[in-house]
Amino acid sequence: MEALGIDVGGSGVKAAPVDLSTGKRVVKRKRVPTPESSTPAAVYEVFDQLISHFDWKGPIGCALPGVVRNGVMLTAANVDDGWIGRDVRTDLEERYGQEVTVLNDADAAGIAENLFGAARELSGTVLLLTLGTGIGSALFTNGVLVPNTELGHLEFHGRDAEDYAAARLVSQERLIERDWAVRLNEYLNYVESVLTPDHFILGGGISKNFDRYADLLNTNATVRAARFRNRAGIIGAALATGEAV
Ligand code: BGC
Repeated sequence: MEALGIDVGGSGVKAAPVDLSTGKRVVKRKRVPTPESSTPAAVYEVFDQLISHFDWKGPIGCALPGVVRNGVMLTAANVDDGWIGRDVRTDLEERYGQEVTVLNDADAAGIAENLFGAARELSGTVLLLTLGTGIGSALFTNGVLVPNTELGHLEFHGRDAEDYAAARLVSQERLIERDWAVRLNEYLNYVESVLTPDHFILGGGISKNFDRYADLLNTNATVRAARFRNRAGIIGAALATGEAV
């Protein structure tokens, strides 16, 4: 069984068909830049392109960069405000004439890591943080997801934590990677003081450089890099079509 996973990010919309029994993409993913004006209407047109690129007819899972409850997007920090209050699930089900699963992008990434990645063997409280344009969070306790935790928006140093410690500080604002990691460590310690997770998993593209800054991270919880990095949203969105999310 396969499903198409779509991941909407601040800079790109990515998709690939995924084998649900292995968590592997069955063909190369396709990426389309997120439209400058990232309204639902503009992004839905990108979905049309992606679906016709893969000539897709099967189940669809869609990961979005905001709080998603019952298919409705409730926040939109890094995409157009027009998403707020939008019933994305109903929009897409009407557009494509089939069931569509819609969930938060970090929760999707967490599902991928939990089923087939870095969290697979872990028990207890596991917190996955996706480090990219923003900071996404997915909280699991013994494999059960608590959706929409949004820990990137905790107030930290007088601002949103993601404005202090997201990976975009390195890519867009030229913060030196190890200086960023010092900030990340402060943030992890703060999150630890609130939730005391047993394990942190760090996702997003920057997690591939994990060995370059791991020595700066000193939480009591173990910290490890995600397995799927930037692919986790696509894979988790596809896998979510088989889960009750
Ligand atoms: C959003 C989250 C999202 C994260 C990563 C944050 O700004 O509020 O919902 O998971 O960015 O995209």
